Formats: sequence, C-alpha cells, structure tokens
Amino acid sequence: MSNKPCKLLILISGGGSNLQSFIDQCQSGNLPATICAVISNRPQAAGLERARLANIETRVIDHTLFDSRESFDRQLMEAINSYSPDLVILAGFMRILTPGFVKHYHGRLLNIHPSLLPKYPGLNTHQRAIDAGDLEAGATVHFVTEQLDGGPPALQAVVPIARGDDADSLARRILVEEHKIYPLAARWFSEGRLTLQGNRAVLDGETLPASGFAYCGE
Ligand code: GRF
Repeated sequence: MSNKPCKLLILISGGGSNLQSFIDQCQSGNLPATICAVISNRPQAAGLERARLANIETRVIDHTLFDSRESFDRQLMEAINSYSPDLVILAGFMRILTPGFVKHYHGRLLNIHPSLLPKYPGLNTHQRAIDAGDLEAGATVHFVTEQLDGGPPALQAVVPIARGDDADSLARRILVEEHKIYPLAARWFSEGRLTLQGNRAVLDGETLPASGFAYCGE
C-alpha cells in the first residue's frame, strides 16, 4: 500500500458506536486512515448523525425499496465504488450480502461480530453464550467471505461472563472492546500488515489461527 492514508468506507444500519470509534481514532491520528463515506441501509440510523457531525459524506440506500437482494447489492456496490475505498468496514450493517458483493471486495471487506467465532455465528450471540454456560464471550474482527460470519478472523477480544450477566450487560461490556479491536485491525490493514491470502488472514507474514487471534480485553 502507498503512503497515502487508507480510504475507509463504513457501512452501518444502526447506532454507529463502532463508526464513532473509527471517527475518533482517525481524528486522534491513531488510525492512519480517512473515512471517505458512510452508507446506511436504514434512513433513520443514528450513526448517520455521527458521520454528519464529523463532516463525513453520508448516503442512504434503503433496502426496502429494492425487490431483490441482488438489486440492492448492485446499487450499494455502485455507490461504494464511486468513492474508490481501500477498505470497506461493516459496522453493525445488518444485511446478508450476496456472493457477488463479497467476491468483489475479497480481501478488503472487514466485519465485527459479537462472539468468539467460530462460536455463535448469526444473531442473539450474547444470550446464546450465557445459555450455554460459557465462562467467556467476546468479539471477532474477520475478513468477510461467502460463509456468514465464517471468514478468517484477524483479531478477537475476550470478555469474561460475570455471574448475573444478562445479554444487555454482556453486550455493553463487549461493545467497549469492539471499539478497541476494530480500529486496531483496520490500522494493521492500513499499514499493509494485515492481508487476506487465499482463505487465510495473515499478519506480518504469519498466518493467524482459524480460531482467532485473542486479545484479552479486561
Ligand atoms: C455491534 O455489537 C457489532 O458487533 C454488531 O452490531 C453491533 C453494532 O453496534 N455487528 P453499533 O451500531 O456499532 O453501535
């Protein structure tokens, strides 16, 4: 990658607290990147206001106005490509993406998922971890591949499950760690240290383990 700051494009659907962590890290200089645009599939996403307050260009592409997943994804790709980003960040973007979309951004599409993948892909991750009697939960930053929440992990934060935790209290503590590990993984990518090679995430020339590269957040 050149010396130019990495151009990030961030996709959101909701509150955008992860987006805010990217904004803050870019502003403080911890993340050598610029956010070229924020796109939401929901017009009311609160994260849009966070982007506007930071003078970041915003777009809304409302998925309810499309008659198929393919046509929505085509429009989304067109919008994304008009900014020529180096890296596309899914930050609470609550849409399943089509194989064509995922292939197009192979190696430059990251997601964060609130579980210690490969455990608990999909929804209700916090409750599922509690119900299973797990002693720890967490979050995983991973490259996106066609397998839902199944792409190679780049970084994980581990959070102990406390006695008396419910899904909300656990989600709140995990979110704090998400805000640290997601910009960190993007920083590694920006510095050319983190890449996807075939189906392996590689950091500084070393293949990362398939179960994630754990960082204990607490
Ligand atoms: C986070 O928990 C993230 O892991 C999941 O959706 C949530 C988004 O939160 N994919 P926010 O919109 O970034 O606050």
